[in-house]
Amino acid sequence: MSRIRAGVLEYGSTMKLREAQVGQRMDEEGFSHDGICLAFSGGMLRVDFAAACGVPVTIYGQTEITRDLYDAREALGGTIYDEADDVRPWAIDTDRPYVTFEKDGATHRIDCDFVAGCDGYHGVSRTVIPDSVLRTYERVYPFGWLGVLSETPPVHEELIYANHERGFALCSMRNEGLSRYYVQCPLETDVAEWSDDRFWAELKTRLPVEVAERLVTGPAVEKSIAPLRSFVVEPMRYERLFLAGDAAHIVPPTGAKGLNLAISDVHYLSQALIAHYVDGSDEGLETYSDTALARVWKAIRFSWWMTTVLHKFPDQGEFADRLQIAELEYLASSEAARTSLAENYVGLPF
Ligand code: PHB
Repeated sequence: MSRIRAGVLEYGSTMKLREAQVGQRMDEEGFSHDGICLAFSGGMLRVDFAAACGVPVTIYGQTEITRDLYDAREALGGTIYDEADDVRPWAIDTDRPYVTFEKDGATHRIDCDFVAGCDGYHGVSRTVIPDSVLRTYERVYPFGWLGVLSETPPVHEELIYANHERGFALCSMRNEGLSRYYVQCPLETDVAEWSDDRFWAELKTRLPVEVAERLVTGPAVEKSIAPLRSFVVEPMRYERLFLAGDAAHIVPPTGAKGLNLAISDVHYLSQALIAHYVDGSDEGLETYSDTALARVWKAIRFSWWMTTVLHKFPDQGEFADRLQIAELEYLASSEAARTSLAENYVGLPF
């Protein structure tokens, strides 16, 4: 199972990257999108972000952001240890915490004032918080996404999220010549059973006819299956350890929130650390967990809502089918409903 790294940046995320002076390539190579399309009942509804919120989202791959951050760190003369083994924070409940790791056959130790646990869902940071302190909230969805990357022009200039009786589909992109498509699949799906032809046929079935007719297919350059889950731990701070990003929470990819939430966590944490060192104020550090979690839960809600409205749950029945269509028709008929979707998709304020 792999992970989905969506390429959708909230407006606030792009501002944050610019503020940190790592937004130059994003501004040159990224694509600004003023809306998304929702396909259902054979037709398409466009949700216009510009009209609803006056700001766009930016399509720019996560791997590109990682590269920009590494380059910026290098330009500052910072040290990055890649592929360290046995990483472990220690003494986080003292005022002298430290981190140890193995690298090139040697044990290293870094003495710290604070430890930022930005080591992802499978990272070690979260596990050093005592069980008696940590609460976990989780929902595992009973389906996955089968994704294909192909060197073909995107079928549409904006993303298309489709609700179909055979299941969800998504048309996304990386650039003019590189497309990213997904179809909902059962969790036990074996990628080997999905030839390119089978994938394209299934995708076309789930799209409105005029979109399917325009779809340019080609060989898949990557094909993988990813599970969907919502996951939150509380608190996000324990003594001198501060969790940020996937170390503390996971969202299903449907709302394109994963990386954006990591950026808002880092915003709160960096502001708190600046206040500590510059003004001698620890208020931001004290409130970090509550402040970050308040925003995290709203993104958890939005991603769950997008997932629930657009996917077919096994045995969901006709009642739930009708509710999904009613929800989508309500969006089509109500500017207030579209504004609500738009403000969540472009990103709630930090
Ligand atoms: C993607 O481009 O991979 C992508 C875009 C939007 C999503 C999820 C994935 O919601």
